[in-house]
Amino acid sequence: MALSLVNLDKIKHMKLQHLLLGCFIGLAFTACETVAQQPTGAPFEQSDLPYAFNALEPHIDAQTMEIHYTRHHKAYINNLNKALREAGDTLTPLLDIMARVSTYSTAVRNNGGGHYNHDLFWSVLSPDASEPSEELLTAINEQLGGMDEMKSALSKAGATRFGSGWAWLIVNAEGKLAITSTPNQDNPLMDVAEDRGTPIFGIDVWEHAYYLKYQNKRGDYLDAIWNVVNWEEVSRRYAEAMGADS
Ligand SMILES: [Fe+2]
Repeated sequence: MALSLVNLDKIKHMKLQHLLLGCFIGLAFTACETVAQQPTGAPFEQSDLPYAFNALEPHIDAQTMEIHYTRHHKAYINNLNKALREAGDTLTPLLDIMARVSTYSTAVRNNGGGHYNHDLFWSVLSPDASEPSEELLTAINEQLGGMDEMKSALSKAGATRFGSGWAWLIVNAEGKLAITSTPNQDNPLMDVAEDRGTPIFGIDVWEHAYYLKYQNKRGDYLDAIWNVVNWEEVSRRYAEAMGADS
């Protein structure tokens, strides 16, 4: 086994040598750079939904989930890739784009946010019951007045967001939990956000997220969503934002 690994390393090394040689003699420098960095930037792809479209029923209906995932989220990704391709930027990671989104076009801001936000949203929902970690629960109790207070404040942030947008539970620069909301497809990672921080949970309050089932009753949707929160993932994101091993 050890010999095989050594041989494998040699083969990899030879391939790398050939690649570098090819870069120097035949290709422009930018092409070499593209080979090394391409996977971190556009084109961005849609991750699989981690559950069936009907898995969150009756709280979120299957038709809403299917249209939301296959049409809305997919469109954000396609439009983001198109905008970045036209701008000649296919190397920058999404988080770096968010951090200096003010330097990008409106199309990149709207669709980059749309992609990041929905990717997070699918991950923090689940049909399986779970509980927040001890660390997260302690922080919610000490910093936000307890679970009921936190849920009430986050639901209020979603209910009072005029028009379309998101309500967020974030970890701010001081390492404290905070609740905020953003318009459209903005998020707290963006350099344009009023309250910046790392989102660990977010609620989509665009009408496309709830209208088929709840019509104009956004409050009912906000009440129902607490039944399908993936606290395991929210806790993992909290630990990651706090710099702990997760
Ligand atoms: Fe959405």
